[in-house]
Amino acid sequence: MTLPASELATALPPCDLTVVGGTGDLALRKLLPALYQSERRNSLAPGTRVIGASRSSLDDAGYRAVVHQALAAHVPAAELDEPVVTRLLDRVHHVEVDAESPEGWHLLHALLKEGPQGGPDAANRVRVFYLAVAPRLFGPICQQLEAIGVVEPTSRVVLEKPLGADLASARLVNDAVGRVFAESQIFRIDHYLGKESVQNLLVTRFANTFLEPLWNSRWIDHVQITAAETLGVGDRGGYYDHAGALRDMVQNHLLQLLCLVAMEPPTYVGRETVRDEKLKVLQALRPMTPEDVDRDTVRGAYKQGVVDGEVVASYAEDLGHPSRTETFAALRVEVQNWRWAGVPFYLRTGKRMDRRASEIVVVFKAPPHAMFPGSEGATEPNRLHIRVQPDEGMHLHMTVKEPGPGGIRLRPVSLDLSYATAFDAVSPDAYERLLLDVIKGNPTLFMRRDEVEAAWAWVEPILRRWETSPDRPKRYPAGTNGPTAATTLLERDGRTWQEDDQ
Ligand code: BG6
Repeated sequence: MTLPASELATALPPCDLTVVGGTGDLALRKLLPALYQSERRNSLAPGTRVIGASRSSLDDAGYRAVVHQALAAHVPAAELDEPVVTRLLDRVHHVEVDAESPEGWHLLHALLKEGPQGGPDAANRVRVFYLAVAPRLFGPICQQLEAIGVVEPTSRVVLEKPLGADLASARLVNDAVGRVFAESQIFRIDHYLGKESVQNLLVTRFANTFLEPLWNSRWIDHVQITAAETLGVGDRGGYYDHAGALRDMVQNHLLQLLCLVAMEPPTYVGRETVRDEKLKVLQALRPMTPEDVDRDTVRGAYKQGVVDGEVVASYAEDLGHPSRTETFAALRVEVQNWRWAGVPFYLRTGKRMDRRASEIVVVFKAPPHAMFPGSEGATEPNRLHIRVQPDEGMHLHMTVKEPGPGGIRLRPVSLDLSYATAFDAVSPDAYERLLLDVIKGNPTLFMRRDEVEAAWAWVEPILRRWETSPDRPKRYPAGTNGPTAATTLLERDGRTWQEDDQ
């Protein structure tokens, strides 16, 4: 079919990218290194400017020094090229603004209106406002942007998660931003959608013929989605203790992965088509009653343990006070539609676990009939193991005959696709890809308002039950795969977590 012209890849237009929260952790650790990589690939159009806006009283030179330091700290040394750094720093400016008052915003206005120094200021120059700040500031900042008259039809706003803490607060944030920007101008980031192997999931499902006929409850037994981290909460305790694993990872990243696994094929992969199909999956999630929550969810919090050979503190010690917040969550989820009836999706995520791995495992049904009587070894169900990180790749586990005479011996083997060995290119960081998509105006990999709110609507009964339940999160030693109740969640169904890709 012919794609609408608006869906086709286009070169980047020149852009003024304003990062509100320009001296914050996200900007310095993720966004500026991502822009550096774009500069390195010559992806940024001439005349593109990066404007840090923050409360710090820095002039351009001062902010450039801060950015320079951040690049040195967060770009791998082998990729750090001083001429490229200089090129990027030449694009960088700073304005001192206060998100909660009109102070300083005229400076941003002046900078944006005056246009770039050098480089063609083409008529299609876009303005992007990346709000790398707490969500309570999204509304006030949008008001300031509107008040200084810099929001135009080609302007875009990027919102970082968390987008609210429940459905009502997400709606408030969406309403406040929506008063200034049209939905088509709002880009809600879920950085998991920018990961190379997550996008490859769409290609694997829909650019091949052999999977689709099997991709349903007739042939698939269940699906496991894991996002395990070895890190603790570090210095993000202030935010994390109000969020917990359900809000921080499940409501967004894990549900988005689930959507990509479960969605119906869209007519083509385009800006609204994919999001329409993901929304249908979210709307088909079986709502949880309080009894379902008690039976089908597990929450945990790490206690002292050993990670990578080092003794690490408990969550409460990391925080400096006791807490009821979960750092681990496991859930048994059902998608109520024709394709997935009766197929459980098991989701789990946790901090301070035994390994860092984000992966999707699709476990197929066992062959319906054992037809190798007298053979040694057992037929194992096929598994498609999609490794999101680290070592992005895909492994298909099959049963084959072990070579040799004297009867049939069955052996599980794995057909391996490792990105690192198959392709001679390092995958771009999710933020690099997503930032370029914002500048291009391609929202396919961003969450639409209805998706975010549908995800909150599904998660909310779990939050409420956990809040009112007398039970506390189950403690698990740091450096393990979580509380034993998470193992029981699957064992009850006669299944086990796939702990590694062997
Ligand atoms: C973020 C969460 O969205 O994702 C963090 O707020 C988490 O708590 C991070 O550590 C995980 O991202 P990644 O890309 O390292 O899996």
